[in-house]
Amino acid sequence: MHRDIRKVVLPVAGLGTRCLPATKVLPKEMLPAWDRPLIQYAVEEAAAAGIREVILVTAPGKEMLEQHFRPAPALEASLAARGKHDLLAQARGTLPAGVGIASVLQPEALGLGHAVWCARELVGNEPFAVMLPDDLVLADTPCLAQMISAWRETGGNMAAVEEVPAADTARYGILRVTGERGPLVAADSLVEKPAPQDAPSRLAIIGRYILEPSVLRALDAGKRGAGGEIQLTDALVDSMATTPFHGLRFAGRRIDCGSAAGLLEASVRIAARQPGMGEKIHAWLSRDR
Ligand code: G1P
Repeated sequence: MHRDIRKVVLPVAGLGTRCLPATKVLPKEMLPAWDRPLIQYAVEEAAAAGIREVILVTAPGKEMLEQHFRPAPALEASLAARGKHDLLAQARGTLPAGVGIASVLQPEALGLGHAVWCARELVGNEPFAVMLPDDLVLADTPCLAQMISAWRETGGNMAAVEEVPAADTARYGILRVTGERGPLVAADSLVEKPAPQDAPSRLAIIGRYILEPSVLRALDAGKRGAGGEIQLTDALVDSMATTPFHGLRFAGRRIDCGSAAGLLEASVRIAARQPGMGEKIHAWLSRDR
């Protein structure tokens, strides 16, 4: 059976405390890497993977995220009147053609699993993607597109995975690996944020998932896990009896943009691809004053 992934859930209700003071007022997903906010990279990656509907799971005070994708009549009229057609295209192009956007509030910060569950009515009864915009993935083939083509073969639940240093396992969902076939990794369990000595491997979930709608039923129970939060990782484990899980070792470089260092790395790497910018960056760094 050929099924398409048409919808992506973007959980964007978090407070962004790792990026204070920048995120005191500004939603962390509006922080830019080079020339555009993180949320826009996520939406562009989703659109490039064939997604047609973006579902923001948001919180009061983060209305700017929706506004970024809406028309800006005064700005557009001003750019049009001055003949600034390139800039007009930038202002109009934040939401890729053919993509719709909807949002739902996460009333309380109860965890990633809860955030995804808040989107259940907008998702309906079909497989869907989840992307965490702080995880920026630079790749020739967008990460989500790689996942969807792998998922067409496997079905079930899938997460993008990569090796992390042993010292970092407590920041991620970690796989208990049972086998590997090319870039696909089979697992019979997952552990959310284990201490290094308890981690079953160093293979970590990063912020890209494809989920069967049955995961939403597993989240109905509202079970609390690591950190007292409702964890998506636990719902994936609870689904394993009926729904296979695969990790995909994607091709590309993932940057954790939930920190100032990650945002800087992303900005530099993206900027360095612009004509002449690589040389400029080298020159800045080699100047002694
Ligand atoms: C979440 C998930 C975790 C995953 C991580 C990827 O954690 O709970 O399993 O490895 O995203 O970024 P968070 O970063 O929201 O604490």
